[in-house]
Amino acid sequence: MAPKKTPSRREPRRIAVLTGGGDCPGLNAVIRAVVKTAENEHGWHVFGVRDGFEGFLVAADRGISRLDRRDIAGILPQGGTILGASNRCNLFAVERKGRVTDESWRVADTMARLRLDALITIGGEGTHKAAARLAATGVRVVGVPKTIDNDLGGTDVTFGFDTAVGVATEAVDRLHSTAASHHRVMCVEVMGRHAGWIALHAGLAGGADAILLPEIPYDPDRLATRIASRVRHGRRFSIVVVAEGAKRAGGAPVFRRGKGEDPILDRLGGVSLLVAKEIEERLAVSVRTTVLGHVQRGGSPSAADRVLASRFGVRAVRAVADGESGVMVALRGTDVTTVPIEEAVATLKTVDPAGELVRAARHLGITFGAADGSDDAHTAARRRHGAP
Ligand code: F6P
Repeated sequence: MAPKKTPSRREPRRIAVLTGGGDCPGLNAVIRAVVKTAENEHGWHVFGVRDGFEGFLVAADRGISRLDRRDIAGILPQGGTILGASNRCNLFAVERKGRVTDESWRVADTMARLRLDALITIGGEGTHKAAARLAATGVRVVGVPKTIDNDLGGTDVTFGFDTAVGVATEAVDRLHSTAASHHRVMCVEVMGRHAGWIALHAGLAGGADAILLPEIPYDPDRLATRIASRVRHGRRFSIVVVAEGAKRAGGAPVFRRGKGEDPILDRLGGVSLLVAKEIEERLAVSVRTTVLGHVQRGGSPSAADRVLASRFGVRAVRAVADGESGVMVALRGTDVTTVPIEEAVATLKTVDPAGELVRAARHLGITFGAADGSDDAHTAARRRHGAP
């Protein structure tokens, strides 16, 4: 008779996952993929850290709890994050009773106490700057890039971006019909911080007449000239997509709060109101403004974001299994791979003002109101050929 197998006494490996920074569609899809892959493929246990890095500051480890199959049931199409997020927490400078202290040691300390041997950080620039510093202190970290802004380096695209572009494009489509009915100029302000990806893509997808980007400082006179030319050609309405970080040549971005010195507290917003005023001062047209705000971040992720987020979650667990640390999963071409986190956060990925996307937009008659005159050749060509 074959001897009875004795059950292994080895404890399953335990890993943690958190969602840092602002939320974004697709976070739950990553969490789901992490839990499924860890459990199904490796038999590991996954623990969720509440509210980003803040979960490490909660007394008695109450910010961290086991995530199992029941917790992830049905979350794939849900927006937001079941773990909660926070873009207010800087572990390296925590303010308590007027004193600022470095409490980053709590991560390694808590992980050792809870026998968690790796941390998957799902986040954007701020989260991954912190993740890189933690990795340098010996914490085993694998990052997953999220942000609607698509401004993280190291990866061709972040999940959340496609959904945000979809929301912004639908808004542009809707504004088109009301703009046309009332012969108005519609300025629609979209998010993106200091990168114009959402504005550029939504402007292209929605057939905008002008797109104002942080990367191409604008001249209100050139913008007004474009709108006036459309009016002369019988196009009595125009759609201007304005990135929240757009700035007038020689000017500064417009902040709703602060001046941009504090990356955690200061908030961009309101530049479209300025643009509307500048147009009204130059032309006898009626202008209306829509600031899309957080609707771009909420709601169900697009199919493309669900797929990308799921692939990222699966790849992050593989990276942990392979013993990688200090890396972030990334989409390069059609492959999901890993890159050093340091590389991802070294420079903000912004729109190339001379790149193919910008050039394509100009060929389609879109102006950037470029103060440096880089739209002018296209304006002149249109004039020569009698186009609006
Ligand atoms: O980084 C994502 C983002 O939505 C930016 O596009 C925007 O400027 C910022 O976050 C808004 O942050 P909050 O949610 O704190 O207002």
